[in-house]
Formats: sequence, structure tokens, C-alpha cells
Amino acid sequence: MSELHLWLRHETRTTERRTPVVPADAGRLVGSGVTLTVEESPQRIFPVEEYEAAGCRIVPAGSWTGAPPRAVVVGLKELPDEPAELRHRHVFFGHAYKEQPGARALLTRFAAGGGALFDLEYLVDEHGRRLAAFGHWAGYVGAALAVLHHRGRLTAPLRPTSKEELDEALRPVPGEDRLDALVIGALGRSGVGARAALAEAGAAPTCWDVAETRDLDRAALLAHELMVNTVLTTGPVTPFLTDKDLDEPGRRLRTVCDVTCDVGSPYNVLPVYDTVTDWTDPVRRLHERPVLDLVAIDNLPSLLPREASRDFSAALAPRLPAFASGGEWERCRDRFDETCRALGLTEG
Ligand SMILES: NC(=O)c1ccc[n+]([C@@H]2O[C@H](COP(=O)([O-])OP(=O)(O)OC[C@H]3O[C@@H](n4cnc5c(N)ncnc54)[C@H](O)[C@@H]3O)[C@@H](O)[C@H]2O)c1
Repeated sequence: MSELHLWLRHETRTTERRTPVVPADAGRLVGSGVTLTVEESPQRIFPVEEYEAAGCRIVPAGSWTGAPPRAVVVGLKELPDEPAELRHRHVFFGHAYKEQPGARALLTRFAAGGGALFDLEYLVDEHGRRLAAFGHWAGYVGAALAVLHHRGRLTAPLRPTSKEELDEALRPVPGEDRLDALVIGALGRSGVGARAALAEAGAAPTCWDVAETRDLDRAALLAHELMVNTVLTTGPVTPFLTDKDLDEPGRRLRTVCDVTCDVGSPYNVLPVYDTVTDWTDPVRRLHERPVLDLVAIDNLPSLLPREASRDFSAALAPRLPAFASGGEWERCRDRFDETCRALGLTEG
């Protein structure tokens, strides 16, 4: 029997309906000998009864603070501001290793309590490739929102939905023109998701990845009506759009969805805007004549919580029984230790 005790916590953010472990995978974990405690959570897309039926012990929301010291607390997004000292090992997206706002404060809490962060963004294989990610559904939702806006069918504020409902809205109505769309980063997780949504909308998009943007054909790019950017850049790249392109009178491009949302980064390939959009105001007009509208939402997968959770859980849950026993978990832990040392929070 494994002695691993996982504690699936309630998410602090009220709009966050996703979970990193869905009930079906919870059942598999319990079946493999893992003890799984699940917190009640009013907004989680899967009712707590499904976890109970899968053999999990149910506890009140937020009770992880009193969990046994050996328990591993699993979540997705930020922790509440209290307690000041974090004693447990936590698995979630900490956004704490790139000098983000609040990063030092979070790591200081871990250092003070002797706990550790296993950041899901850094759960990678030996080649550095992410093992569990939400990219597919980010691309799917991003492209879908762009199409709906382009066709005058997007209603705000946005709210979490299902794939069935989204696809119903996406389907072209008779007489609607075929959409001239471009996906950049088309071979990646988000790119594949974007292509799937565009196919659902009746479009056969042009697909570009690294090979096609090396010598960027700006005129070809601007000749598409709609563009979805899903690239992951790790170094300087010639921007895909500049302010000059926005002024271009012959531009056909009318709608851009920036799934990447690298606003403020030196590697940003779309330096034509400086603030993301959100669920309340999903679209911003960047230019009037000719029109160019932007969708740049940085929490797209939360709009399809059921599908996004299922995919993520399918990737993460099979790796949990081997928690802290080398491989990807050790790499993850090393990253935490290195960052804390570099910040002078721990010695070494
Ligand atoms: N907005 C959101 O809610 C949201 C959610 C998840 C991920 N993301 C972001 O989406 C981006 C893509 O994530 P992913 O999981 O799909 O990454 P990925 O690594 O699976 O795919 C990225 C793709 O971009 C391509 N690429 C890199 N540089 C390029 C260039 N110069 N020209 C053309 N193609 C290039 C790569 O070859 C790869 O195919 C990341 O920046 C990620 O942080 C956003």
C-alpha cells in the first residue's frame, strides 16, 4: 500500500470551476492505494458526491491548513493569503519563478513554514516538455471566441460553458461566408485546439509554425480575416503585427485572438496592445479604419471547465502515485529549491 496522502483543495477564485483531478481519476488513485481527501467546493464543476462515490474522504473547503503534515495539497491556482507559514507540500501553478507580482511573498511563506511548492508549470519530462497543460482548450476557446466575435455572435460577459453549447454557437449558419483564418503556432497544443474549433466553425485555416514564420510573409498574414496566435516563444522573434500593419489600408485582417498573451514580455510577437481583455469585456478595438479587434484573455480554459479538467487530470493523475519519488517530481522540487536559494530565502 502506498502511504501517499493527497488532499484536493477548493479553489480560492470564485470563477475557477476547474479541478486538477476529476472524480473518475480520483477513483483510480484510491484504487491504487492512495488516500485522497477532497474538500467541498461550491463552484467545482464536478459535485463532491462524485468524489465521495469514488472512495474519497470529504472535508470542508479550506481545511487543508489543518491537514496532516505528510499530506500533499493539490490545487490549480493561487492559495488564500493566510496562513502566513506554509507547512505542507503543495502542487499547483504558483507563477512564482519569473519575478511575477507576489512571487517572493509566496516563496517566503513556504520558506517560513518549511513546506514546498511543486509548480505544475515545471512538471516536465527530461527534455523540458510540459507533462500536464491546458493548452488545447485554451486554443479551442480562443479561436471560438474570435469566430463568434467576427460573425457578430459573441455575447458578454462570458461565462463558463460546455463544448456542446460552444459548438452549437460556432456552427456556420446557411449563407455565411467561409472564413479565411490563420493559426500561428499551429503544431502546438493550443494551435491544434484552435484548428479544431475553426474546423467546427466550417473554416479550413492556414497553418503556420516555426518554418513558415522564419521569413515572415506579412502581406499573406494581413490577407487573412482572422488570426489566432498560439506560439510559445523563448527568444526574440520578429513581431507578427506592428502598429504600421494596423494602418495598412489594404489589410483584410479584422479579428485577432492572442492565446499566447505575452503582454509586456520582450519576446511578445504581437506588440500592438498592452493590456489583456477579460470575461466582462472580451474584445478591444485596436484600430478603426480599417477595423482590427482583439481578444486576449489569459484564462481561456476556465471557460470550458469540464473538458479542460478532464484532459488535465488524464495527464496529471497517473503521475501522482509516484509523487516525490524521483523523475519529474524531483525536477519540480529542484526548481523550487533553486529559486528559494537564489532569492536568499534558504541557505545553500
Ligand atoms: N490564454 C490562455 O488562457 C492560455 C492558456 C494556456 C496556455 N497559454 C499560452 O499559449 C501559448 C502556447 O501554449 P502551448 O501549450 O500550445 O505551447 P506548445 O509548446 O504546445 O506550442 C507552441 C507552438 O508554437 C510554435 N512556435 C514557437 N515559436 C514560433 C514562431 N516564431 N513562429 C511560429 N510558431 C512558433 C512551436 O513550434 C509550437 O508548435 C503559451 O505561451 C502558453 O503560455 C495561454
